[in-house]
Amino acid sequence: MSHAISSDAILEIGQSFWKAKALLSAVELDLFTVLAREGPLEIDAICRRVGLHDRGARDFLDSLVALALLQRDELHRYANTIETDLFLDRDKPTYSGGFLEMCNERLYPAWSGLTAALQTGLSVHEEDRESGDFYQRLYSNRTSREVFLGGMTGGVRAVARAIAAQFAWREHRSVVDVGCAEGCLLVEIAQAHPHIQGRGFDLAPVAPSFDRFVTANAVGDRVTFQAGDFRVDPVPAADVIVFGRVLHNWNLATKRQLLARAWAALPPGGRVVVYERLIDDERRTNATALLASLNMLVVTPEGFDFTGGECSQWMRDAGFRETRVEPLVASHGMVIGTK
Ligand SMILES: C[S@@+](CC[C@H](N)C(=O)[O-])C[C@H]1O[C@@H](n2cnc3c(N)ncnc32)[C@H](O)[C@@H]1O
Repeated sequence: MSHAISSDAILEIGQSFWKAKALLSAVELDLFTVLAREGPLEIDAICRRVGLHDRGARDFLDSLVALALLQRDELHRYANTIETDLFLDRDKPTYSGGFLEMCNERLYPAWSGLTAALQTGLSVHEEDRESGDFYQRLYSNRTSREVFLGGMTGGVRAVARAIAAQFAWREHRSVVDVGCAEGCLLVEIAQAHPHIQGRGFDLAPVAPSFDRFVTANAVGDRVTFQAGDFRVDPVPAADVIVFGRVLHNWNLATKRQLLARAWAALPPGGRVVVYERLIDDERRTNATALLASLNMLVVTPEGFDFTGGECSQWMRDAGFRETRVEPLVASHGMVIGTK
């Protein structure tokens, strides 16, 4: 069965990069933070503050009004909406713009190589092919490392909150988040469940960003970092082991190997949690998850996304006796396996 779609809707999909780039440029120019600090502002003041030429300024700002990302009052002054003030002002702890900064810097340019990636099966980053891993390149430079890790926090915050609320944390005492980035998930769990001890396991260059984030969120006494390479080192032991948007970076053999390492590190009754933008089992409806898998084609040497059913099967093959799939938020879902 196919969905009906009008010709307008087809053209709208084709030009949806207009909307995307208007938002990404607004974040790049720090427009929302400036308006949070100083708004409402008239157009001339905005041009001076964020460095806009007057030719495009009015259309740019009014486009953002039409997209419900800004509001304009009867005195022609622009201000954030309640939502953009909350999520796109970098001075607030709720800032999620890091994800958009990463989209602007890394993914938007990379996606111009989609056609070639589809034809060759190769990511746009030729330089990663030998190492099989883009993290070495990404983390060799402080700016790209921080943009990436901030992007992970921005993209995961709502999902982390849902996992902290939904999972049966009262049945467990400790959690290891494998590939934890800045530790957003562990912070949300630790804040909601004071009995939980958390450990982040990630590559050594991630440590300073993790420490900064966890300290700023006041859970440093219960959330610690362990540096390691999960392709070589064992996964640290805990009651619950989480892989969040980690398995999708890798080929099938590595996905299975990581689940096997989690099984080895868990006690009987322990749980593995995989959260991702899970593709629906019919592969028909979760367009964001399907496109996320194409994103893996474009930016990783061998990664791909998967359905809840596929992940459940890999867990059972690794020895987990019971699995279940639960929806989360923002096109994400989690697969839980019990040892
Ligand atoms: C796509 S990010 C996901 C981050 C976070 N879990 C989330 O959902 O936002 C993958 C994470 O895996 C980490 N990672 C990649 N290769 C690794 C390795 N070989 N050993 C340990 N961590 C690794 C990266 O540093 C990064 O933090």
